[in-house]
Amino acid sequence: MDFSDAKEEVRKAADIVEIIGQHVQLKKRGQNHVGLCPFHSERSPSFTVNQDKQIYHCFGCGRGGDVFTFWMEYHNLTFPQSLKDLAERYNIDLPRYRDAPAEREKTELKDQLFKINDLAADYLHAMLVKDVGGRPGRDYFSRRHISRETISAFRLGYAVNKWDGLVNYLKSKNISLDRGAKAGLIVPKKDGDYYDRFRGRIIFPIIDLNHKVIGFGGRILDDSLPKYINTPETPLYHKGDSLYGLDSAFKDIRERGLAIIVEGYMDMLVLRQHGISNVVATLGTALTSNQIRRLKGYTKEVVVLFDPDDAGRQAALKSFPLFLNGGISAKVLVLPQGEDPDSFVNRYGSDKFKELLEGATPIFDFYLDQALARMDAGVDGQIRVLSEVLPIFMDLEQGATKFLYVHRFSEKTEISEDIVWEELRRREDKRPERRDTSQLKRRFLSGQDSRKYGSDLQFLNLLVHYPETIDTFRDQEWELIVSDPEIIKIIRILMEKSPSGGDLDLNRIEESLDSPKAKEQLRRLLMSKPIYSDESVSQAVDEFVRKIARVKISQSFRKASAEGDIETLDRLIKAKQALDLPSREN
Ligand code: GTP
Ligand code: MN
Repeated sequence: MDFSDAKEEVRKAADIVEIIGQHVQLKKRGQNHVGLCPFHSERSPSFTVNQDKQIYHCFGCGRGGDVFTFWMEYHNLTFPQSLKDLAERYNIDLPRYRDAPAEREKTELKDQLFKINDLAADYLHAMLVKDVGGRPGRDYFSRRHISRETISAFRLGYAVNKWDGLVNYLKSKNISLDRGAKAGLIVPKKDGDYYDRFRGRIIFPIIDLNHKVIGFGGRILDDSLPKYINTPETPLYHKGDSLYGLDSAFKDIRERGLAIIVEGYMDMLVLRQHGISNVVATLGTALTSNQIRRLKGYTKEVVVLFDPDDAGRQAALKSFPLFLNGGISAKVLVLPQGEDPDSFVNRYGSDKFKELLEGATPIFDFYLDQALARMDAGVDGQIRVLSEVLPIFMDLEQGATKFLYVHRFSEKTEISEDIVWEELRRREDKRPERRDTSQLKRRFLSGQDSRKYGSDLQFLNLLVHYPETIDTFRDQEWELIVSDPEIIKIIRILMEKSPSGGDLDLNRIEESLDSPKAKEQLRRLLMSKPIYSDESVSQAVDEFVRKIARVKISQSFRKASAEGDIETLDRLIKAKQALDLPSREN
């Protein structure tokens, strides 16, 4: 039998109404069954399943297909994974990978390990709930307000403080201890014997989307270290791949369009117990891209709870590009100092927690606020923040959001947007950049300065020495590119008092200037040499015109982003890129 045979068998065996019916509430209507589409949000049912044809179609969002398509899309799985799930469900033998004994062995090993994990989970659970030896575990859970229902729903367990509890149990079940060791549950000794990895710990089985146990976490009951141990790398368990509780949360995550991510096992359990069902835990690693990919099939929005300490802030920062590039909008919730989700909900209840959730901060704003709060005054502070944020911007894919973030960053830090882009370009050219900020500081200073005041003077210099260029700027919003109010005043008068076509009437201009400072500035400028040569004038004019356009784009950007107008944003980015092209080449 090959895969297409297997596929056909599954197709025959599976009933699409039954399969979909387990995930979507279906009502019979005429020939069809209808329900609310699980793939987009709607109030009246346009999701239609046809039993005769064994297909589904949503008249709202247009998604549809057969039972395999549904399984793949709903659970965010590949076709082979889906085929395997469905085949298992209907007891259909899948062909082993053709002529690949290695693959076949792998699959067999995995199946055995699943079985061992399942046995172990049952054993550890039984120890917790009914063995005399399980008393410390029971006491511990009750101290932490974990109910019996939670204990059974999550198959929580207790490993007695013995070296051979599980070893003996596996022996009694005729399980090869070598396999037990491959499952990570027991550890080989030099003498060929084995001992239990988890001793004197409460146990959290880690369960995959097919409701199979892939590994375990175990927490010690007192303050000794390590506080937690987890299953090591095994064929079933890969650190950073899974999320604790996803198997029982994914439906709610999809329904609410929101996932709450916490750090700890206990946090996840206690929140669940308080009726917050769309929550998963990261199992002690920083959030990984694999974990985010898993969530992506169910939601485009997450709230992450980070510790209020510096490590938590760093973790938030690291996860930022992952979310953004994964197309997930992430918010950050930081609990009051000293609280974690578990203690918070136990103390204040779930309503208070939900209130806090409402106020979660978009992750980039969270970062910016934190950065600004820590930003020392002056250039050094700016440089520190800039060099911290550059690697994060580097990791973001080019696109509307990146432009948006650079823009907002520059607005809040008062670091010129041009400088940020220039530094990004520089780093892209020759990564990895040395971690040396003195270079950056030099460039920064000259850039920021010449931009802020230098360019004011350059512009004025141009107008004064080449008055024929004044006409070009008369109808332009040149104020946008001049920051010194004194210079703005001078230029305004320069324009007012100069007839079209070129000549400057310097006396009239000087008369109109009210401040001695402005008069002096103008005179100094008249005495100074022109910056631009006759040949470069038109290029200079061009540059300034371009610059005005750029600032205008930035302003529209701000407006469009405030309004969430993605189409306009995209158009603006193209316009900005077009503007940037010629200057990029030199
Ligand atoms: P409680 O103290 O029981 O409330 O646990 P917690 O989840 O609040 O612990 P903590 O905030 O210290 O850690 C968060 C998560 O990080 C834990 O749930 C574990 O998954 C992981 N973790 C913590 N300490 C260790 C450790 O010593 N080793 C490993 N491997 N993981 C740990
Ligand atoms: Mn805790």
